[in-house]
Amino acid sequence: MKKFPGILAALGLVTCSALAEVEGDADRGAAAAGVCTACHQADGSGKNVPGGESWPRLAGLDAAYIAKQLHDYQSGERSNASMMPFANMLDEQQIADVAAYYASLPATQGDGGEDAGEAMLKRGKQLAERGDWSAYIVSCKSCHGPGNRGAGEVFPGIAGQHAGYIKAQLQAWKAGTRKNDPQDLMGSIARRMSDDDIQAVAAWLAGQKAVAN
Ligand code: HEC
Ligand code: HEC
Repeated sequence: MKKFPGILAALGLVTCSALAEVEGDADRGAAAAGVCTACHQADGSGKNVPGGESWPRLAGLDAAYIAKQLHDYQSGERSNASMMPFANMLDEQQIADVAAYYASLPATQGDGGEDAGEAMLKRGKQLAERGDWSAYIVSCKSCHGPGNRGAGEVFPGIAGQHAGYIKAQLQAWKAGTRKNDPQDLMGSIARRMSDDDIQAVAAWLAGQKAVAN
């Protein structure tokens, strides 16, 4: 953690805060988020959809991270057929408002790792907390923060996110269909992960707490 400011400055990531120029209002965001509940649910918990497209939990994610993703869908930098029309409905103020709103909701627990066996969970925990130097995989928590609960506005919390969604994102980075991460930070990791590794880390992370205590 202590090393983060230096790393962020070195990567030029601190400039991301320029996106937060418009101030969000959570109450206005609640109204604008009416159309989002069909998928992300009224409490922002999203839904793990086994065998289908999972809807990510938004509750408790960092507001600037949420706003960045909505801008990325609008610009086409991040592409998803279900999500793009809804991102395109929002103006700058509404993006700031819904981001403030979802960030203000208490994080809910992830689903989807329940059927994983002991060996799989052990491998998932190893990748998340220690990485695997034989495969040049850095631990997830070295960027995603203590407990993988997120660090600042650049590194989203991934503990307690739905397994189906985590898996889909890692597969997308591996395949090159998600590439909106700064400096290919995620792509370079996902490409080193086997499908079993992806399954394992998604299952383990889904079962972890999204917030401390
Ligand atoms: C039809 C279902 C649907 C609706 C309605 C919907 N979303 Fe989404 N949303 C998704 C899916 C599916 C994803 C994951 C897409 C992907 O893989 O990139 C997503 C992803 C997101 C993300 C990225 C989350 C992350 O952790 O990176 C944000 C932010 C988001 N949606 C906000 C919204 C907002 C705000 C609205 C309402 C204005 C909305 N969504 C409406 C299905 C939906
Ligand atoms: C070198 C830093 C770094 C490491 C290590 C790292 N990540 Fe990430 N990760 C990021 C960044 C930056 C983002 C946000 C990308 C963006 O802005 O869209 C991200 C985003 C994600 C997301 C998308 C979350 C969401 O809500 O959409 C998932 C899932 C993810 N990482 C999983 C992992 C896993 C699993 C590991 C360990 C195997 C890992 N990451 C290791 C930097 C890292």
